[in-house]
Amino acid sequence: MEAHLGSPDRNLALELVRTTEAAALASARMVGRGDKIGADQAAVDAMRHVLSTVRMDGLVVIGEGEKDEAPMLYNGEHIGNGEPPEVDIAVDPLEGTTLAAKGMPSALAVIAMAERGTMFDPGPCVYMEKMAGAEDIADLLDLDRPVPKTLELIAERRGVDIGDVMVVMLERERHDETLQAIRDAGARVRLIAHGDVSAAMLAVSDRSAVDILWGIGGTPEGVISAAAIKCLGGGLVGKLWPRDDEERQAAIDGGYDLDRQLTQDDLIRSDDAFFAATGVTDGDVLQGVRYRGHRAATTESLVMRSRSGTVRRILATHDRTKLRELASERYG
Ligand code: FBP
Repeated sequence: MEAHLGSPDRNLALELVRTTEAAALASARMVGRGDKIGADQAAVDAMRHVLSTVRMDGLVVIGEGEKDEAPMLYNGEHIGNGEPPEVDIAVDPLEGTTLAAKGMPSALAVIAMAERGTMFDPGPCVYMEKMAGAEDIADLLDLDRPVPKTLELIAERRGVDIGDVMVVMLERERHDETLQAIRDAGARVRLIAHGDVSAAMLAVSDRSAVDILWGIGGTPEGVISAAAIKCLGGGLVGKLWPRDDEERQAAIDGGYDLDRQLTQDDLIRSDDAFFAATGVTDGDVLQGVRYRGHRAATTESLVMRSRSGTVRRILATHDRTKLRELASERYG
């Protein structure tokens, strides 16, 4: 993409990481306290506070929901300081609200951004069937083929036994049949309670034991995962998965093709995507917020841009006393 007036010609992810750090620091105060709504609210509030300082004209395409239900970071809200570039934004201030509420691994604060008009709007489609894997097997990802067959092809491509292949998936009743078929084929499975964005990142990483992500999870999380994969490399395919006839009809009326396999390039139709995530609780992808005495807190973040392919891991030390002075008790 050629840089032109109004296009995101600077690495906005480096500015965006401040928003995920703020969300992580705020929601980390709520870890394990059994209050997922409170944890999410803390993250939303802190992310929004910092977003207003980011130099951009951002439109929330993936947000916390409709305005009536979510007064902040709602779909259609304009965020940033209003100056160019014009961009689409996907936010998930706390991906894994239950994980944070229960103090379980892999809760993240996440944001993704791409040029205006290039981000897939899930409309009425809450869920999506997804499959993700690394670059060398990206062409094998196919939701129209039985999952065990794809696992066989992956094993063949990699010159390993199917028993060496590991699938990560959300533990859900709706997956039971496929889970059994995968086990019957001899592959290994990692079941997770929540958090398929971090699972998608694991699946495309060559440093993890996981080979592939499969399962039905949130469509917003699918779009955010697509942004991450455009930066990290690898492939993702997703198919919208209506929960009932009413949702199916609403999707069809809205012009959505329910048979189509959407790739990461359909979900983010731009070669210039930005992604930032900060760990809230410790996970395989990112370390969570840690406190070093009363004064300091540390965060670990991933900061990425698809156009350059740069992946930065940023370890930050925050002065809790100064943050408290700047932003009351919000982060400290
Ligand atoms: P929340 O942070 O909104 O709780 O979402 C967590 C999550 O596990 C996502 O990672 C996943 O895509 C989705 O929920 C799955 O939805 P459900 O829990 O309804 O099966």
